[in-house]
Amino acid sequence: MFKSSWLPLAPALGEVLLLSKASNAKRRQLVVGNWKMNGSLNENAGLLAKIAAGWHGAHNADVVICPPFPYLMHTQNALLGSAVVLGAQTVNEHAKGAYTGEVSASMLADLDCKFVIIGHNERRRMQHESDLQVAQKFEAVQKAGLTPILCVGESLEDREQGKHLETISRQLNIVFAHTGKDVFDNAVLAYEPVWAVGTGKTATPEQAEEVHKFMRSQLGVLADSIRILYGGSVKAHNARQLFALADIDGALLGGASLDADEFLAICKAAE
Ligand code: PGA
Repeated sequence: MFKSSWLPLAPALGEVLLLSKASNAKRRQLVVGNWKMNGSLNENAGLLAKIAAGWHGAHNADVVICPPFPYLMHTQNALLGSAVVLGAQTVNEHAKGAYTGEVSASMLADLDCKFVIIGHNERRRMQHESDLQVAQKFEAVQKAGLTPILCVGESLEDREQGKHLETISRQLNIVFAHTGKDVFDNAVLAYEPVWAVGTGKTATPEQAEEVHKFMRSQLGVLADSIRILYGGSVKAHNARQLFALADIDGALLGGASLDADEFLAICKAAE
């Protein structure tokens, strides 16, 4: 019922592999705005109108907005006819049942969501989501025909003790063990160092590249095609530098997605 004008422009997996092998071309970029628990009908209307008018699509970049659940339908309507795609911030791992206050993946599909963020560190920490639950959510999202954006990232303590790759490896391996790796042809990864989210501190290009390369190396035959976003205090002033890195395929934005000019500047930097 809620048809958007968005068509998946991404080339098929085989074409991506050919592209990256033949010309080393960058993968299709993706910019995702995670509004978290912000906004109101009034504020959203203004923000969405500006974003829909300012983003006309690009041959090499996709843009997604993930509003809070109560605003999904309004956001979907405001984005009709635009090149911006709808996503959600989380989902319940069960298909249906007595889970008061929860939302299933098929409900998100009904509202024409295309992507769902899972394993965001705010949910892992504040809602106590376990690695296993994250894996189950990943599976539920794919079963409903949507694309999971799986977030991983280390705490400041892990980073200071040089255990960041160990943490990321654990977070990824639990999902691999649950689903297998081949289902990652319909998934996006996001590296979000916990110490960089909402703090104004960004990982240095070297830190980000190290982790992105490591994550890519865990994906086997999908290593060249999987999109890996960076998240953590990405702003218009640092986006271009991050997007220029070989293994960064876009960004997951928090604060910067609440300001239309800032958000659009980052989308344009991804083109
Ligand atoms: P931030 O949040 O851009 O405000 O640091 C990123 C995120 O939580 O995905």
